[in-house]
Amino acid sequence: MTGTDSSNANTAVEALTLEQAAAELQRLAGEIAFHDARYHGEDAPVISDADYDALRQRNAAIEARFPELMRSDSPSERVGAAPADGFGKVTHAVPMLSLDNAFADEDVRDFVGRVRRFLKFDPLMGELAVTAEPKIDGLSLSLRYEKGVLVSAATRGDGAVGENVTVNARTIADIPHALPAGVPEVVEVRGEVYMSHADFAALNARMAGNGGKVFANPRNAAAGSLRQLNPEITASRPLRFFAYAWGQMSEVPCDTQFDMVRRFNDWGFVTNPRMVRCSSVEELLAVYHGIEEDRASLGYDIDGVVYKVDRLDLQQRLGFVSRSPRWAIAHKFPAEKAYTILRDIEIQVGRTGALTPVAKLEPVTVGGVVVSNATLHNEDYIKGIGTDGEPIRGGVDLRIGDTVQIQRAGDVIPQVIAVDLERRPADATAFVFPDVCPACGSHAVREINAKTGRPDAVRRCTGGLVCPAQASEKLKHFVSRNAFDIEGLGDKQVDAFFAEGLVRSPAEIFTLEARDKLALTKLRNREGWGAVSAKNLFEAINARRRIDLNRFIFALGIRHVGEGNAKLLARAYGSFSAFSAAMEAAQDRSSEAWAELNAIDGIGETVAEAVVQFFAEDHNREALAALLAEVTPQDAEKISAEGSPVAGKTVVFTGSLERMTRDEAKAMAERLGAKVAGSVSKKTDLVVAGPGAGSKLKTAQDLGIEVITEDGWFDLVGG
Ligand code: IVH
Repeated sequence: MTGTDSSNANTAVEALTLEQAAAELQRLAGEIAFHDARYHGEDAPVISDADYDALRQRNAAIEARFPELMRSDSPSERVGAAPADGFGKVTHAVPMLSLDNAFADEDVRDFVGRVRRFLKFDPLMGELAVTAEPKIDGLSLSLRYEKGVLVSAATRGDGAVGENVTVNARTIADIPHALPAGVPEVVEVRGEVYMSHADFAALNARMAGNGGKVFANPRNAAAGSLRQLNPEITASRPLRFFAYAWGQMSEVPCDTQFDMVRRFNDWGFVTNPRMVRCSSVEELLAVYHGIEEDRASLGYDIDGVVYKVDRLDLQQRLGFVSRSPRWAIAHKFPAEKAYTILRDIEIQVGRTGALTPVAKLEPVTVGGVVVSNATLHNEDYIKGIGTDGEPIRGGVDLRIGDTVQIQRAGDVIPQVIAVDLERRPADATAFVFPDVCPACGSHAVREINAKTGRPDAVRRCTGGLVCPAQASEKLKHFVSRNAFDIEGLGDKQVDAFFAEGLVRSPAEIFTLEARDKLALTKLRNREGWGAVSAKNLFEAINARRRIDLNRFIFALGIRHVGEGNAKLLARAYGSFSAFSAAMEAAQDRSSEAWAELNAIDGIGETVAEAVVQFFAEDHNREALAALLAEVTPQDAEKISAEGSPVAGKTVVFTGSLERMTRDEAKAMAERLGAKVAGSVSKKTDLVVAGPGAGSKLKTAQDLGIEVITEDGWFDLVGG
């Protein structure tokens, strides 16, 4: 059933050896999860309650005798089954990153150039080896092996925390339950779960035959099959797995990407046969075009080619920016295209007041997905003018009634890329972009961009607080999945609550229950609502009164502060009070706080400006105070590297560095939890000075700050 060794099932707990106990815990975890799913997921238990209890007791007794063997998916950590509304969560020991994209050959040249510059890897040092392999269009999975035994399998989730799909992953034939002897103590193998074209077609035929719904494409089928609460269903689905990367490793057995993947192969994983090692951009591009040519005959969906710097020491030096490694890039295949008719143009008002035109299209299938909306970006885009003021689409404008070509690339919102002028009807009408906000009637203006001196591409509503569209969009963002994630408070509810005046600001979400008790909101009397739905909503709201700092910052909806930047800010400041105090201080652009904000790796001046301006607004500060009376952001871990000797310290690099570039030094220090500043002050903890260091070194000496050499730095951080 679970495919695990049951030969020790009858051995008394007292008589088990360490190995036998580990195997038994593995078997019991699988077995108990299986029965949990039967019981909770399907309401169809296959063993008696007493037998089930006996399994749990045996598991607990073995754990009591061998606490060190306690598994991350131990049934004793779970009450009953995985929660009915989903899977347990797994925090990835090493975050699961995403990849930057390249679309043109030129982008690949840029990538290799960037890598070489970062590493100061000049042509005299020989060729830079880079691997190329297909980018599988499935979903990524991280498999954790401890002492050679599969202990957990987790989806990517938000990169930091994924879903625990261990029981389901065990049903996939390509995933070994145990690795050969001699593998490192902790091994995390990562790769892609996917479904082949043939298996997908057969599955859909079977599902249609049973009168069921079919999947739109193999990736949806793979995701839907892996994320099944009932592992029996997963087991019945033909899933496959390619191993191509890794997370935590107690010991890295090889020096190169290529050899690591080959090693995975030796360990029993399936790896992609099209992976090759190249030594020039030309070679990479030749591999890309070769794989593109064979795309249709591979038997599974791919959406590009992934390039990775081969040497692991270089990967380490390159590190990552925000959520993507500097040492890898995905070269995507061109988007899929189709023609359809532009029926209308609607204006949406976003949370920052941006008026975004949306194309309403005659529905059309593009790459397996029905598309009926596409973004039109801004009014110039409709007129055929790009953001740089130059013509796009040959300068042709878009008119209602036009036949347009649209394209869809991956998960990106579909775009209108061309107009077929020959099919333009005589009565096609030009679109007049409104200069007032359709939601509140305020003027909508194009501000003059301070940097370019040209009007901004985006027209914005000037209504601010009076604009209901901005306010309700801000609320939707606030409760959205990657922000407060309040279950039961979706877009529709937010619109309704807002329209009825029940919730007008983030803080009012949290006062809803108290007001309801005073019969001020009468939530339970709303149509379609009862005491139970009100209670569930209040519970979901109360569950979010404590929230991670990065989510809290993201939820505020500050311009330019997406999830990545919110994480950077949370990590840099650690607590909300430190963050807001620093942002207040940074109103003074000559302050250290402003310099420190700008010194955060990944935070540029535009972002810094936006954050500081947000804190300068009285109404934002009032809204924040009201919100903080209701919710408590949890302090973030300021350090990214446990036990790092420079965690939390402010470091300044000065003079010329010989073993690493300046970018590299900064990235390395930040990876180790340090803050890198551009100038020396009383707050500086450490100065790393290379030859030629001048005034900064002198200031450090005057202030009595510790100064070390570049070699001293490597001694300190163990490089
Ligand atoms: S490497 C740190 N290799 O693409 C880099 N990713 O856009 C880890 N993917 O989340 C990823 N095929 O799900 C890598 N051969 C391949 C891949 C691949 C598909 C997916 C993966 C990742 C996404 C990033």
